[in-house]
Amino acid sequence: MSAKVTMLCQLAFFALWSFQIRADGVTTLEARQLRDEVRDMFYHAFDGYMQHAFPLDELRPLSCQGEDTLGGYALTLIDSLDTLALLGDRERFGAAVEWIGENVRFDINKTVSVFETTIRVLGGLLSAHLIASDYSTGMKIESYNDELLHLAEDLARRMLPAFETPTGIPFGSVNLLHGVDEHESKITATAGGGTLTLEFGVLGRLTNNSVFEQITKNAVRGIWARRSKINLVGAHINVFSGEWTQKDSGIGTSIDSFYEYLLKAYLLFGDEEYLFMFQQAYKAAMHYLYHDPWYVEVNMNSAITVWPLFNSLQAFWPGLQVLYGDVAPAIRTHAAFFSVWKKYGFTPEGFNLASLSIQGGQRSYPLRPELIESTYWLFKATRDY
Ligand SMILES: *[C@@H]1O[C@H](CO)[C@@H](O)[C@H](O)[C@H]1NC(C)=O
Ligand SMILES: *[C@@H]1O[C@H](CO)[C@@H](O)[C@H](O)[C@H]1NC(C)=O
Repeated sequence: MSAKVTMLCQLAFFALWSFQIRADGVTTLEARQLRDEVRDMFYHAFDGYMQHAFPLDELRPLSCQGEDTLGGYALTLIDSLDTLALLGDRERFGAAVEWIGENVRFDINKTVSVFETTIRVLGGLLSAHLIASDYSTGMKIESYNDELLHLAEDLARRMLPAFETPTGIPFGSVNLLHGVDEHESKITATAGGGTLTLEFGVLGRLTNNSVFEQITKNAVRGIWARRSKINLVGAHINVFSGEWTQKDSGIGTSIDSFYEYLLKAYLLFGDEEYLFMFQQAYKAAMHYLYHDPWYVEVNMNSAITVWPLFNSLQAFWPGLQVLYGDVAPAIRTHAAFFSVWKKYGFTPEGFNLASLSIQGGQRSYPLRPELIESTYWLFKATRDY
């Protein structure tokens, strides 16, 4: 969900910035102040990272030290590229693109998550490449010579060994130098195999190499072919045997972006196979998982409820419904999710729908952007402040 973090925060920012807000609650002046506050928050985090952690992956905010958490390739800088461009910061965007082009290398002995590396690093490089190449973004870099595209292609090639499985569904992790480790787990999350099509597909189009698009589409087909008779997917699957090792079906944890990328792959590439899969998957989700306005988790075969739980990753769903044109249930669900937000000041990771209280052990809020994305899309659809 992390590439989304960058994009969604930008969307929230953009929403505040681009529109004259004249609703009862928020004046134009207040909207400007909110905009400036968002920008200040971004620079607080970005400058703190650059000062104390760069070129390591992430900043530890309490000790103010850097840490390599994903692969050791200045992750936060790559993750921040499109936000810098969106803020109109030509200077920092240009400097970051140049530094990454000169210094980041992927021929490193690091075992990385295929999912996280795709959505954050591959996605970050590709979006920055497109922004830096295009006059219409206002961020075109004259000296730019496709350095980030070449890095993206190199990185994607290093992940290809993960897809060499009987089901086509990739291993969860891959070593960038040696391919898949000998003792790598064969169990992966549905979202891990189904959230790669946008980035690999865009890379395929930019490099004229259909392998990238085919291999990730094949992974989605591998998952969808193993759906239950009632068109639900489980949470974890064995990439060799194709057996579901965790059969709880839901729209949140471990599955969420499988649904998201089906629809977005259709919207981005116009490939109707994705739309066809999405329509069936969505219909089943609305039939078996939706208990207006909440969503529960059920056994993928029997449809018996296993968890009457809101989890904060579910909050992307109303936004997805807007993209699909199903706005009415999106409004009701968003209101329900937002009521949890209002109750605690943010959404806890888990909220029990039976006791209407925080699920034990799930009090935390790891800065998830899903509810903000849904709020943004609903605003775009309804213009309701
Ligand atoms: C790669 O890293 C692993 C563990 O970090 C180490 O055991 C191995 O020797 C390294 N291989 C090479 C070729 O550097
Ligand atoms: C891909 O193909 C198009 C059209 O044939 C061409 O204009 C473009 O330069 C090619 N791109 C690459 C990276 O080869």
